[in-house]
Amino acid sequence: MTGKIAVLPGDGIGKEIVSEAVKVLRCLSEDFGLEVEMEEALVGGTAYDATGNPLPEETLNLARASDAILLGAVGGYKWESLDISLRPEKGLLGLRSNLELFANLRPTFLFPQLVHASTLKPEVVSGLDIMIVRELTGGIYFGKPRGVRRLENGEREGVNTLIYSESEVRRIGKVAFDIAMKRSKKVCSVDKANVLECTEMWREVMSEEARNWPEIELSHMYADNTAMQLIREPKQFDVIVTTNMFGDILSDAASMLTGSIGMLPSASLDKNNKGMYEPVHGSAPDIAGKNIANPLATILSVAMMLRYSLDKPQMAERIEKAVSAVLDEGKRTADIWTQGTQRVGTSEMGNAVVAALRRQI
Ligand code: NAD
Ligand code: IPM
Ligand code: MN
Repeated sequence: MTGKIAVLPGDGIGKEIVSEAVKVLRCLSEDFGLEVEMEEALVGGTAYDATGNPLPEETLNLARASDAILLGAVGGYKWESLDISLRPEKGLLGLRSNLELFANLRPTFLFPQLVHASTLKPEVVSGLDIMIVRELTGGIYFGKPRGVRRLENGEREGVNTLIYSESEVRRIGKVAFDIAMKRSKKVCSVDKANVLECTEMWREVMSEEARNWPEIELSHMYADNTAMQLIREPKQFDVIVTTNMFGDILSDAASMLTGSIGMLPSASLDKNNKGMYEPVHGSAPDIAGKNIANPLATILSVAMMLRYSLDKPQMAERIEKAVSAVLDEGKRTADIWTQGTQRVGTSEMGNAVVAALRRQI
């Protein structure tokens, strides 16, 4: 038995894209001998509707008892006016914090077949391969105090707190340096040290930790400049390490370098490499239920699961090769469609990946 996988489709397109990823896992178990057990549970708005809680105890227990978690996405218009503690997003944040999934890896890789799908010029993006390492269980997402209160003069005041301990910075720095050792050995740490004391400390701790990694070339960049440089000359980056919120924003921006946010997978890991795997995008309520969402980010997240948590790197490669083969065939969902390619729906794309996998037998 390779492992037990908790399958949490969530809301909106979450269900559609996870179905395709599950097809891929089934194919690997039927045709390639992968031994996995899958169990499904509710999370997000769907869980709130059924139980009054976006992260039911049962789901958290299943996630804890599993070797890896496959998540679709959470959120939607329907739940936007709920109290923030009951919103679908709290389900996702609860999984991340309860399971201590502090290291979020967001590989921003351009399949060469998609060089014309990006809104940027081909020469700017071709050959692009960046790893964004986002801190995931700290920073302003979880800092206290937080909330909105009524002042004596009657107006409201909102507060969130950006807070990092030295050890939180050091442990995400180590993850980034370790990854960089297997790549170009270049790490760019992104902060706002010119304005925010917390990230001034972030910068100092990164530099201190880097002394333990003599082969690593560490640079620092302000978050605003990084946003600009990612669009201007993205290939200057190899590994980027940054805070929870900067990582959230920069990875959405970086996704367009690869053609579409529908292409970007992610892994959220704890200190033992147990992980949750999900696309970088959200539940896309604007296109949910139409069979047009791109399932490749989720399918590529399964490849990351096989590599990082289930120790099956050859299976991961099989999936990545199958995705590449499908792109070679010219099949494209609407978000990555360009003139001369064949537009397919969500389930057709999933079926095409399975067919390409079967051709590898
Ligand atoms: P989004 O990522 O859901 O969508 C942004 C845009 O990208 C939309 O136009 C959408 O149609 C498109 N898009 C996203 N994924 C796509 C795919 N696979 N194929 C084709 N097009 C795709 O972001 P949003 O609209 O800001 O947020 C919608 C909801 O999702 C919110 O409730 C938000 O909180 C939630 N969200 C959840 C996650 C998650 O579960 N990990 C991540 C981001 C946002
Ligand atoms: C992401 C999402 C989440 C985040 C939301 C849905 C809580 O945007 O995974 O990128 O902000 O981390
Ligand atoms: Mn995001």
